[in-house]
Amino acid sequence: MASSSSSFRVAATLAALLAAVCVLHAGGAAAADLCVDYYDCTCPDAYKIVQGVLVQAHKSDPRVFASLIRLHFHDCFVQGCDASLLLDTFNGMETEKDAIPNKNSARRYDVIDTAKAALEAACPGVVSCADILAIAAEISVQLSGGPGWSVLLGRLDGFTSNFTEAGNLPGPFDGLKNLTDKFKLATLDGTTDLVALSGAHTFGRVQCQFVTDRLYNFNGTNRPDPTLSPSYRAFLSQRCPMNGNGQSLNDLDPTTPDKFDKNYFTNLKVNRGFLQSDQELKSDPLAVGTTAPIVDRFAGSQDAFFKAFANSMIKMGNIRVITDPSKGEVRKRCAFIN
Ligand code: HEM
Ligand SMILES: *[C@@H]1O[C@H](CO)[C@@H](O)[C@H](O)[C@H]1NC(C)=O
Ligand SMILES: *[C@@H]1O[C@H](CO)[C@@H](O)[C@H](O)[C@H]1NC(C)=O
Ligand SMILES: *[C@@H]1O[C@H](CO)[C@@H](O)[C@H](O)[C@H]1NC(C)=O
Repeated sequence: MASSSSSFRVAATLAALLAAVCVLHAGGAAAADLCVDYYDCTCPDAYKIVQGVLVQAHKSDPRVFASLIRLHFHDCFVQGCDASLLLDTFNGMETEKDAIPNKNSARRYDVIDTAKAALEAACPGVVSCADILAIAAEISVQLSGGPGWSVLLGRLDGFTSNFTEAGNLPGPFDGLKNLTDKFKLATLDGTTDLVALSGAHTFGRVQCQFVTDRLYNFNGTNRPDPTLSPSYRAFLSQRCPMNGNGQSLNDLDPTTPDKFDKNYFTNLKVNRGFLQSDQELKSDPLAVGTTAPIVDRFAGSQDAFFKAFANSMIKMGNIRVITDPSKGEVRKRCAFIN
């Protein structure tokens, strides 16, 4: 025990020194104590190692990049970017993985575990699981044709998971007001950040259960959602019949299913958003003068979307990060505290 606690202290001191270097490098300008060169001395190949694991995983799963960026989102919106999502249930503390937005939905935790194992082999005890999620999100976007950005690093992994808070993640049936509120609660804004980050629905898959109300009984009206294009509704009704399998998968963006581009926004302009929470950004009465003009701007300029997306991803990656070594650690395995 004594030796493990003294090695903990050495690691903590090292982390504190690195954090100090970070502040110098960032010139005090960064919102959080994170920096791009955090692992430059302690694990210089960290990015390349994660990239290698992702490229390999993509060979057998074209959806993996979409799934991985979603993990980072679901981590950051619950207790901040602290890898709380990745912890398994222990000591009666139920895992976030079991909360409604994640269960039978969030996937490819195993790819993060594989990246973690590769990093532990190269530089044991150095790269946090929360940082792996942030790195994997950026690589995923870039390898899908989207923008790259400098990933800020130096997050520590937390000691707790919060099942209840995970139940309050933004939901597909939330109204625009609720979505805005939830983004603000997460210290993001309910306009540019909400619209830009929702643009991640330009790739990946979605289950029928999240659109059946819109197809057959919108908001208890027994009618389809009036903001759903009739031709898209006909297409989706074929794929998602009224009493069909709610778990069958669809493309979030049928025009370019695995490509990170601006088509999410061009779809919204012609009432071809999949989720209610997608289409509301353009069609909700509250969207007029708020989110709708941003949708239009991104539909008109991929460059504007990519810049805003990178900026908002960096903001999201800064949510309530842990840098104080008494409040976090670098986990050895992402599903367990050390
Ligand atoms: C604005 C509020 C949001 C809501 C209500 C929402 C909701 C959803 C839902 C319901 C799904 C489908 C899950 C399933 O069928 O199992 C989904 C998938 C996805 N979401 Fe979101 N999301 C939101 C924001 C975001 C953000 C901010 C990101 C990332 C920056 C993101 C990335 C994704 C991706 C990439 C997928 C596809 C995942 C896959 O194929 O495995 N979403 N989202
Ligand atoms: C979980 O988060 C909620 C806020 O959503 C908070 O009230 C509660 O104390 C947290 N629980 C734990 C175990 O941290
Ligand atoms: C949206 O927020 C309102 C008021 O805060 C709440 O009553 C309602 O249940 C929320 N809707 C959803 C879908 O979360
Ligand atoms: C859903 O129905 C309620 C009343 O039944 C109404 O207040 C609300 O605006 C409707 N929501 C949408 C998105 O149409």
